[in-house]
Amino acid sequence: MNFDVLVIGSGAAGLSLALSLPKHLSIAVLSKGEIKEGSTWYAQGGIAAVLDDQDSIEAHVEDTLAAGGGLCHRDAVEFTVKNSKAAIEWLIDLGVDFTKEEQGYHLTREGGHSHRRIIHSADATGKAVHRSLGSAALAAENISIFANHVALDLCKEASADTQRYRCSGAYVFNREKDCVERFSAKTVVLATGGASKVYLYTSNPDGASGDGIAMAWRAGCRVANMEFNQFHPTCLYHPKAKSYLVTEALRGEGAKLRLPDGSRFMHNFHELAELAPRDVVARAIDHEMKRLGSDCVYLDISHKPREFLEQHFPTAMKRCAQFGIDIANEGIPVVPAAHYTCGGIMVDDQGRTDLDGLYAIGECSFTGLHGANRMASNSLLECIVYAHSAALDITSCIDELPEPQEAAPWDDSQVTDSDEDVVISHNWDELRRFMWDYVGIVRTHKRLERATHRIKLLQKEIEEYYSHYKVSNDLIELRNLAVVAELIIRSASQRKESRGLHYSLDYPSASAIAQDTILMPSNFSGQRQIVAID
Ligand code: FAD
Ligand code: SIN
Repeated sequence: MNFDVLVIGSGAAGLSLALSLPKHLSIAVLSKGEIKEGSTWYAQGGIAAVLDDQDSIEAHVEDTLAAGGGLCHRDAVEFTVKNSKAAIEWLIDLGVDFTKEEQGYHLTREGGHSHRRIIHSADATGKAVHRSLGSAALAAENISIFANHVALDLCKEASADTQRYRCSGAYVFNREKDCVERFSAKTVVLATGGASKVYLYTSNPDGASGDGIAMAWRAGCRVANMEFNQFHPTCLYHPKAKSYLVTEALRGEGAKLRLPDGSRFMHNFHELAELAPRDVVARAIDHEMKRLGSDCVYLDISHKPREFLEQHFPTAMKRCAQFGIDIANEGIPVVPAAHYTCGGIMVDDQGRTDLDGLYAIGECSFTGLHGANRMASNSLLECIVYAHSAALDITSCIDELPEPQEAAPWDDSQVTDSDEDVVISHNWDELRRFMWDYVGIVRTHKRLERATHRIKLLQKEIEEYYSHYKVSNDLIELRNLAVVAELIIRSASQRKESRGLHYSLDYPSASAIAQDTILMPSNFSGQRQIVAID
């Protein structure tokens, strides 16, 4: 398996990059399950972009900076927002069917945005985007898509020219053939999505286990701001409704949050009430639920006509109806759940990581755009903008790069029969539960200390059995989740303040100076100094 470019991930980031590379390059795109199975497919609200004369690049930049709690990198924000219109035009050219109104495209609002600037496809934007990207990629002769292929580690080789390591491919678990294969490539791109599966309750699909972040960390790349995991305020609360997110666009169109007695509460927490930034809304709900001992709060859009709801929120209406909730008549029971990983692998504005030949784009990367709290609908935008800039950079240098050598075969000589299933599933549950209880929406020094003890024990156990257990998707994900959990706990423990999505009862105020939390792996070789901190 030898390609010019190996793209690990078939979401908005990975497919946009593959489609933006020249046609003469051979490209492999891996997906750990079905090609559509990633967060992109489930995205609802839309994509933020400056598309209308009433709006401006400055306003979108300022809103993003305000939501980001002083930690956004202004250069990354400006770069992304300036490229937003071109990103949307590219999607429209690919055939994405965004919702129209008489004057052009319908733009909605979400928390933190001072203008209507979210272009969307009803309340199922991700599906519309992925369908267009997916069919274009499947039709492209130079792109080979490998579903059910799980990358488990990156391969590196020393470059004769530069005397530096470069990434030369990956070991990949083929789930259908049940074996580990080697993929070699001149350039590797991580587009593996986020890590919200590290928490017990999440809006994310099952594969969001931070594989790319863990693989890059093991390969010697720095990661930043892992303590900032965004909790989406409104996920459906119902015993049978696994991971269903109720879009923020409902609040953009006037939905109110209510306590079980019907009273509103968000105006007690922020002047923008229901449209306050997400960290504020999630914390307010968490506070009210704990104060009242209630299981959920209610999101109420029943003042809008049924026809309006059918036109703008058909998916939410249908999904809620499956659980006996008529959103045109009653409030929707909601709770916060882990939603988005703001931190990730450090990259520059071309998606380059610390390791030569390795790029990271989309939710697994840390570009500096989101700061301490991502503003709604800025992430799909980031996927497209950085996919395009990384593709340009790869195109400019790939013809000069040497052919990669084939890595050594995967070593499974120590694998023995074991009781792996029960151990792995127990570790999974334990990890996700203590992350939820100790490293969740509200943190304390003591809780983080407890989490540190737990993760150390788990890491030790996983290390002991990793080489003896047969490779499986669950084992790969567990090993990666443990790495990501450790990175989150370490970052949260280092931040002695409350800022954006990191709230500590021991340090309730923000410090005077805003600083990123940058973690360096022990094998970091400092090849490239990247990402300037404002
Ligand atoms: P993903 O789309 O998550 O794709 C990850 C890919 O990597 C998948 O193909 C997966 O199979 C593959 N992969 C992972 N690990 C491996 C491995 N080890 N080997 C091989 N392949 C691997 N953002 C917005 O901007 N607007 C919205 O309206 C919005 N709504 C959202 C609603 C929901 C319910 C969720 C969960 C997220 C939402 N987001 C939204 C966030 C946004 O969808 C994601 O940030 C974005 O889609 C991430 O895209 P991605 O390409 O980086 O990763
Ligand atoms: C939503 O539709 O509420 C999700 C939007 C986002 O996460 O950007």
